[in-house]
Amino acid sequence: MTPPSPDVIRFTVGQPDFDTPAPVVDAAIASLKRGETTYTRSQGSETLCQAVSQHLSKFEINIDPNDVVIAPGCKQALLYSMMAVVEPGDEVILLAPAWPSYDGMVKLLGGVPIHVPVRRPDYHPDFEALRKAVTSKTKAIIINSPNNPTGAVYTPEEIKQIVDLAVDSDFWILDDMIYSTLVWGEHNYTSPYSFEGGPERTLAIGGWSKGWAMTGWRLGWVAGPPEVMEAVKTCQASSATHVATFLMPAAEVALTLEDEISAMGDSFAERRLFFHKGIDSLPGVAAPMPEGAFYILADVSGTGMNDVEFATRALNEAKVQVIPGSLMLGGDNLIRLSYAASLEDLEEGIRRLRTWLNGIM
Ligand SMILES: Cc1ncc(COP(=O)(O)O)c(C=O)c1O
Repeated sequence: MTPPSPDVIRFTVGQPDFDTPAPVVDAAIASLKRGETTYTRSQGSETLCQAVSQHLSKFEINIDPNDVVIAPGCKQALLYSMMAVVEPGDEVILLAPAWPSYDGMVKLLGGVPIHVPVRRPDYHPDFEALRKAVTSKTKAIIINSPNNPTGAVYTPEEIKQIVDLAVDSDFWILDDMIYSTLVWGEHNYTSPYSFEGGPERTLAIGGWSKGWAMTGWRLGWVAGPPEVMEAVKTCQASSATHVATFLMPAAEVALTLEDEISAMGDSFAERRLFFHKGIDSLPGVAAPMPEGAFYILADVSGTGMNDVEFATRALNEAKVQVIPGSLMLGGDNLIRLSYAASLEDLEEGIRRLRTWLNGIM
């Protein structure tokens, strides 16, 4: 995508618009000053693995700290997880439209991504389609709830149905829980670990990027059953070795923060309501209320434009940048808008889109 000029309002940014909380930054500096700059334990420091294990227990995910690996970002954690379970020719189910990196990673490993469209208009799993997509080659499903790009948060009943399907057809669940603390709807993030059959076949994959405003720190985790975690440890030991030593005490501090995290959450929750009201009331645009993360996925077919035309003209004529959904399989006629922007920018962007659409429709 061409970088927009400074007068463009960008609803494309997939990262919190907050600074990393100061205690986290201070902890990294203190670690550097203590000289913690040498090689260390490959899977991550014992205390950080313990802290992640304790954090996961808040979501009913009970995993021994020895079965936790700290990876350079959730993205790398996802890649390790796939390297550990996917063999060439294996099919991996994605709920479409899915975050594009999953497709790329599955293909990188010789696997075959199977995109199963989610239900409209609420973007929750379509279980009839899911059941039809399962074959003898299905090795895993990747789920992400709260979801990028849809903003959906799957219900406990839906997660249970996914676990049941995985148990019946014997495949892995790769649970990308990167947005698990960013939930604004009626139900919280639910882990497959909460249901019988889940713990033996689920990898809990997450990180600090979104919930703690730490995208540039490149810190993530994988946690799961011991046999598969041995393979994940080998992936890390044979590639990154470990994440930067002096980042680990800072990641540990992040997991202890409450006030800073809830302040960011309150701000996102306020913007979500404001932004959804504005976007959903634009002529020809319809969007379900997002339940989590900081994205709205809106259907623009009522404008008479497809998503690419909408995104191109919105940029050129309204000076607002959005992501066309057809960059992802199953995203035709949809645009993704991020509300990780100031309230002023959200308001101005909506105003520009409204003026533009009123002028052309
Ligand atoms: C669904 C999803 N998973 C994983 C990531 C990557 O997280 P990280 O920056 O920790 O690698 C992103 C980032 O956009 C994402 O949207």
